[in-house]
This record gives sequence, C-alpha cells and structure tokens, in this order.
Amino acid sequence: MKILFCLFAGLSLTVGYAQTGKPAATATTAVSVVAAKRPGQAVYEQYCLACHQANGSGVPNLNPPLRGIDWVLGDKTRLINVLLKGLQGQEIEGEVYDNAMPAHDFLDDAKIADVLTYIRSNFGNKADAVKADEVRAVRAVK
Ligand code: HEC
Repeated sequence: MKILFCLFAGLSLTVGYAQTGKPAATATTAVSVVAAKRPGQAVYEQYCLACHQANGSGVPNLNPPLRGIDWVLGDKTRLINVLLKGLQGQEIEGEVYDNAMPAHDFLDDAKIADVLTYIRSNFGNKADAVKADEVRAVRAVK
C-alpha cells in the first residue's frame, strides 16, 4: 500500500510539472503566434527560409532568389514540380547554384499551395494563387 501511494504521489508531481513547467507555456505561445500568420508564411518560415532567406533574396552561389524569377511567377506545373521533386544543377536566370533544392513532397497539397501562393505574392512578386486542387493534379501525374 505504501509503495502504491509513493507511486501515485510521484505521478501527480510529474503531471503538475508538465502543466506548470516553462516548456509547456512556451509551446502554447508559439502555437498562437503561428496561427496568427498567413498559412503560407508559417510553412515558408519552417521549410524554406533557411535557404531562400526571409526576403526571398537567396544566398549568392548557394540558393537562388525567389523574387522576380520566372520559375516562381510563370508556369504553375513547373513550379509545383520544383517542390514535389526538388531541383539540382539548373541554370536559373544565368546563374548556377551549389546547393540542391530538396523535394518537399511530404508536405500535403494545401501546405504546398499555401507556400507557393505566399512566394508568388511576396518579395515584390504579384502572381495569382496556387490552389490545393492544382497541386493534387500535378502530384497525380508524377
Ligand atoms: C537546402 C536549401 C533549400 C531549401 C530548404 C529550399 N530550397 Fe528552393 N532551391 C534551393 C536551391 C539550391 C535551388 C536551385 C536548384 C538548382 O540549382 O537546380 C532552389 C530552387 C527553388 C525554386 C526554383 C528557382 C527559383 O529561384 O525560383 C523555387 C521556386 C524554390 N526553390 C522554392 C522553395 C520553397 C517554396 C521552399 C520551401 C518549401 C524551398 N525552395 C526550400 C535550395 C533550397
């Protein structure tokens, strides 16, 4: 009986810590910050920003820019395939880049549509949105 009581006391202590501990509080704050942003921006910050930078400038010789680039503004099928299949060794507007663009096919159709809509309407870009249905159609062809 005594052992059982000790176990129970230990358990409630752990639960108490999880509820009041700092990490749990930080996680809640982070979620509400993400929710307040446009969906494509959250995806961009998590999966693209490290290489293409917050303002879409890219990094010379390593990662291409996303602003004013025909790959971003032009044909949607080609653009969707960059995310689904990745890209490597392409000459982009006269430049070559040492890094490879990893495939992001693990993102669902809506997330890919959101992030592509985000890059097509930011960094000074003005192109129409990409819809989840369009991503689904390109993925189906793969
Ligand atoms: C590891 C770094 C890295 C990450 C992460 C990354 N990219 Fe890329 N991206 C590249 C590189 C390098 C290229 C050029 C590949 C080549 O040289 O063929 C590229 C090319 C592109 C292109 C076509 C060329 C251009 O300049 O527009 C688009 C569009 C693009 N990336 C969008 C994205 C998006 C959206 C994400 C996030 C979902 C992302 N990238 C994540 C490195 C990255």
